[in-house]
Amino acid sequence: MSTEGVDTSRRRFLTAATSVVGAVGAAAAVVPLVSSMQPSARARAAGAPVEAYIGKLEPGAMMTVEWRGKPVWIVRRTEKTLKDLPTLDTVLTDPESKASLQPEYATNEHRALNPEFVVLVGICTHLGCSPTFRPELAPADLGEDWLGGFFCPCHGSRFDLAGRVYAGAPAPTNLEVPPYSFVTESVILIGEDQGAA
Ligand code: FES
Repeated sequence: MSTEGVDTSRRRFLTAATSVVGAVGAAAAVVPLVSSMQPSARARAAGAPVEAYIGKLEPGAMMTVEWRGKPVWIVRRTEKTLKDLPTLDTVLTDPESKASLQPEYATNEHRALNPEFVVLVGICTHLGCSPTFRPELAPADLGEDWLGGFFCPCHGSRFDLAGRVYAGAPAPTNLEVPPYSFVTESVILIGEDQGAA
């Protein structure tokens, strides 16, 4: 084995190692810049608004984002759901959400700025458990009248797809609607409603 081969390999290794260090150094220099453009963890916990991209949310599906340390659900409702919601009014505790929490612009039949999308704080208004999304129709455990909604496993509160609680459930009020606005038709800003019409 010649020493020349060893030296060449070593030089290659050193060159490669230097390049890697250089790349890591460059990446390290970029990260603080990107981080400084995002709300910090402390700012998010304190209530900084959070953007949610809904462009790929399918009809009938739900996505979750975190805002102020809480889950916020966004459900894209189907046309059938929008037709079904008024038929539930007689079996709900507060069908018009008079005693429930939502911004003024969501105090309407659909509890939403845009009827297609409902935005809800995913915390049960009874004792704070997180209900389960149950969009299916008439599942065996929820009965043949079930038209989709949320079921709280802790003490059995049921909510429809506008977050309205069924009468007789331990939860006293509907799920809360947080402040929000549409930045574009595909982006919702949770936690800030400036400019909402
Ligand atoms: S916490 Fe949901 S029903 Fe009690």
